[in-house]
Amino acid sequence: MTNFSFAVLISGNGSNLQAMIDAIKGNQIYGKICCVLSNKEDANGLQRAQEVKIPTEVVSNKDFETREDFDTEMVRVLSIYNPDLVVLAGFMRILSPVFINAFPGKILNIHPSLLPKYPGLNTHERVLESSDNIHGITVHFVDESLDGGPICAQSSLEITTRSVKQLEQQIHKLEHELYPKVVSWFGEGLLRLTEGKVYFENRELKIGEINEK
Ligand code: GAR
Repeated sequence: MTNFSFAVLISGNGSNLQAMIDAIKGNQIYGKICCVLSNKEDANGLQRAQEVKIPTEVVSNKDFETREDFDTEMVRVLSIYNPDLVVLAGFMRILSPVFINAFPGKILNIHPSLLPKYPGLNTHERVLESSDNIHGITVHFVDESLDGGPICAQSSLEITTRSVKQLEQQIHKLEHELYPKVVSWFGEGLLRLTEGKVYFENRELKIGEINEK
């Protein structure tokens, strides 16, 4: 894709956003971030964007009575930048069909668990309470299900700590390696979603293959 540009949606720290910024600088992603949008005006990620002169937008969910109204405003704002892809990076709001249908096959999310295990919040706590000895992350296309869209890639680690904080740090490291890679695949036209199925280099990706890239 020539002149690949993507928007990044955040709600907080923005360490995954930083990984994208660094990957662009290091020529691992050939493209640019056209805009960073946050639903929280004090999100640290906004500063990360401003430091490298990426346009920022704040659309506060608190200003809207319904999810649909909030999503309509986000779509309006993002459409100004005409992104090829919308990257959710720690964006902690559930998106309605209003948003999802505005960017069909063009929304990626990262989730800190090996989906379909542990959708939702507090994944590290929950995995430590379980008897699992493997934990990991998932990048997936977004559809209307919560953390349930078609999976593009996963990465995993062996659990060697009982500390949530330490596990979270290890998981973040995996995220910062994998997410920019998946975004670059999309930008290069290697990865796409068609009729609910994920294709990599024009071949349908089967669940068993998603760790092999
Ligand atoms: C990341 O661990 C991401 O996987 C998670 O929020 C964190 C954001 O960190 N996302 C979700 O839980 C979405 N369901 P960051 O702001 O430092 O990138």
